[in-house]
Amino acid sequence: MTDRPRVIVTRRLPAPVEEQLSHHFDAQLNLEDRPLDAAGLQQALRMADAVLCTVTDRLTADVLGAEPLRARILANFGVGFNHIDLKAAAARGIVVTNTPEVLTEDTADDAMMLLLMVARRAGEGERQVRSGGWTGWRPTHMLGTKVSGKTLGLIGMGRIARAVARRAALGFGMRIVFHDPVTPPAEALAGLGATALASVDAVLRDADFVSLHCPATPETRHLMDARRLALMKRSAFLVNTARGDVVDEQALVAALQARTIAGAALDVYEREPTVTPALLAMDNVVLLPHLGSATHETRVAMGLRAIENLSAFFAGTAPRDRVA
Ligand code: 8YV
Repeated sequence: MTDRPRVIVTRRLPAPVEEQLSHHFDAQLNLEDRPLDAAGLQQALRMADAVLCTVTDRLTADVLGAEPLRARILANFGVGFNHIDLKAAAARGIVVTNTPEVLTEDTADDAMMLLLMVARRAGEGERQVRSGGWTGWRPTHMLGTKVSGKTLGLIGMGRIARAVARRAALGFGMRIVFHDPVTPPAEALAGLGATALASVDAVLRDADFVSLHCPATPETRHLMDARRLALMKRSAFLVNTARGDVVDEQALVAALQARTIAGAALDVYEREPTVTPALLAMDNVVLLPHLGSATHETRVAMGLRAIENLSAFFAGTAPRDRVA
């Protein structure tokens, strides 16, 4: 059928999602899963009515300047959209949607997993066992930091932060402090005993674990810079499942080298997939490859949510997840 909207899909997606895409649209799938460069993205914008994009697609103002432009919607697979220049998209009349909610619980699990891994030296322990370096149990072997009852500081208190707070407060008896410029609705905080603090700095001074949950915007770029890292307790750990841009990776390396913080656990990086080499050599650092939403169930749900947005748009109704 040629009257179906043409959708270019920039990466391989789980099979049930690709099937649905092919069913509903004239879908061009990326069976080789090769990321598109700027020229490839421009070509997609010229050739398709919609582009189903991901975090690996840099949709800059320059790229969005493609002529002649055919695409009218970017359906992003993912909740974060800092790789898309929203202003430029709006200027070109392109609608942008994302996939919130469906990945909240998995991303919160990821943050909690990182927190536990770095506190209990899980990566280090695994490396020791695998390398044959484990000599057996002893009372002083690989002692970590107790998590239960400690203070968790959340930077940002949106959906994912609140899901982390639930796990930490109800599962680990942690005390929760947070800062968010937007006050969350009281019912969203019910039962968490979470205390709002007046500034990011106040959270950093108070917390034993700091977990980042703000979006990447020009305002939050390098929010965790040398000055703010220095406000953290020497015994505190930093967890980042938000976006790499929020942390000045060089300043983080310096803080870890100077031992002014106890460790860091990262899922995201400033220049993915490149990781600042010094981090690779540090045992008090846990490094995961951007796995926040990486479960079968959630990646399917994200794909179906993107399809829902596309279907609504092409049916002439408002997509529920429009961000621009
Ligand atoms: C995605 C994420 O895997 O949703 C996000 O913002 O970081 C991850 O869940 C990624 O963005 C896919 O585009």
